[in-house]
Amino acid sequence: MAEQDKQRHGLARGLTNYGDADFSLYLRRSFAKSMGYSADMLARPIVGIAQSASGFNNCHRHFPELVDAVKRGVIAAGGLPLDFPTVSLGEVFLHPTSMMFRNLMAMDVEEMIRAQPMDAVVLIGACDKTVPALLMGAASADLPAIMLIGGPMLPMAHHGERLGACTDCRRFWAKYRAGEISGRDIADIEGNLATTTGSCAVMGTASTMASIAEALGMTLPGTAAIPAVHADRLRAAEASGRRAVELVGTALRPGRIVTAQSIENALRVLLAIGGSTNGLIHLTAIAGRAGVAVSLKRLNELSDATPILVDLKPTGQHYMSDLFAAGGIGAVLRELKPLLHLDCMTVTGETLGERLAGEAPWVDRDVVRPLAEPYQKQGGLAALFGSLAPNGAIIKRSAADPLLFEREGRAVVFASLDDLAARIDAPDLDVTADDFLVLQNAGPKSGYAMPEAGYLPIPAKLARSGVKDMVRISDARMSGTAYGTIVLHVSPEAAAGGPLALVRNGDRIKLSVAERRLDLLVDDSELAKRRAAHRPFAAMPARGYARLYMHSVLQAEMGCDFDFLRKA
Ligand code: FES
Repeated sequence: MAEQDKQRHGLARGLTNYGDADFSLYLRRSFAKSMGYSADMLARPIVGIAQSASGFNNCHRHFPELVDAVKRGVIAAGGLPLDFPTVSLGEVFLHPTSMMFRNLMAMDVEEMIRAQPMDAVVLIGACDKTVPALLMGAASADLPAIMLIGGPMLPMAHHGERLGACTDCRRFWAKYRAGEISGRDIADIEGNLATTTGSCAVMGTASTMASIAEALGMTLPGTAAIPAVHADRLRAAEASGRRAVELVGTALRPGRIVTAQSIENALRVLLAIGGSTNGLIHLTAIAGRAGVAVSLKRLNELSDATPILVDLKPTGQHYMSDLFAAGGIGAVLRELKPLLHLDCMTVTGETLGERLAGEAPWVDRDVVRPLAEPYQKQGGLAALFGSLAPNGAIIKRSAADPLLFEREGRAVVFASLDDLAARIDAPDLDVTADDFLVLQNAGPKSGYAMPEAGYLPIPAKLARSGVKDMVRISDARMSGTAYGTIVLHVSPEAAAGGPLALVRNGDRIKLSVAERRLDLLVDDSELAKRRAAHRPFAAMPARGYARLYMHSVLQAEMGCDFDFLRKA
């Protein structure tokens, strides 16, 4: 944008180029008036509202109501609210995986913020990839921005037990696969897992990203965990609209808020809440837009010194609405205070330290523990390195079985997702509960775009005999709502020629979570032979976004952003 456009405000920003700026503004005003706005309204600062309601996104069903509330706040504060649609990413409605389209949404958000005449923007997101995409786009556009989280679903009682997407979805599906419940039962449960609007009710990726957004200082305080259907959610929307008007013309842009220190604060929160492994990828991508590198070695240092304070599914017992009632992310931040960078600026204009000063509100200690009495002494995530993962891999140790942490096992290899689907339940599959299931070619450049397939199902014959967990290794991701001894994000991925591609049935693999190691116990000479015979897994797509994606996507430890979108 030209310097003179930056100095203009409202409708006069970023004029359409007809070679005559006065004509451009005259024409724009004229067309804007066709929407019925008065001259007074058109002279106000403009707050864009990036919204992603869609018939293909159940989690965003309530967004029209949120947009109305944001508009109310903007108008009350003297601005003109103009909402605009963005790409919408409904997690379970996208093929091959929503992950493939996070960067597309981020590009859409960045370019539409930049191209349209707005002085500040309210970003509304809820479902898994939408919050990171909005924050990535806003960080790159660097216009004053405030994040409004859509909020989690409410869990609902069913047959005497509260159910909520999506840990319970997986739990019951595993029971069904093991023959413990009938087809009629699973059909009945299907209608009782997700019964309100909002994002998944547990500490999955959506809740993790909401928590990260608040930890970064990009939301209003105390708003990350408000349930989607709670009236406070609408009040948060109205307040976000008001605050957006106050941000107009200030230097309080995402570049001032998303810094190396606030990223580290967000990592602490990610660890303390037992957050999703996906949260690490997305936070790394957001950081990359701000020119901040996230190191997996630093993650391990932080993880060793950050206890788990929150008891939400899939690692604990509660739901996100319980965290809201217990004190929300503010209660977590208050406990973590000695470990945080308190001089980080937030979107309110206060530092984090100023936000956390004063008397602490009531906290439900069943849900948020004191720092001195945590649920677990160490953070939920650990990065592993070794000959099988030279650039790193991730294990969510808080959702895994510690009995499987120090093991050597025989590899049972699946060469692709199709191979997995075809053979995992075969009665003649040569597999025991002590083996390591290995999935290849499910990483960013595989053509599958790194789906949440790392939660490999327990082979049916083992599941029926009562096996609940096994070591599973892949270059895929895992849903934040899943659990098990699952090693993910192996990098470099198989499709990029990483050592994972060279694993064969019967190889020995050594896992040591204590030593942060993942090693393939095969001679170098044998590996060299296999490498010489290795052929690329996926052909470059001929055209379109799939081609751009495969060409430009980075590995997991770089956040799976496109190489040309990170800040130099
Ligand atoms: Fe949208 Fe889970 S499906 S957050």
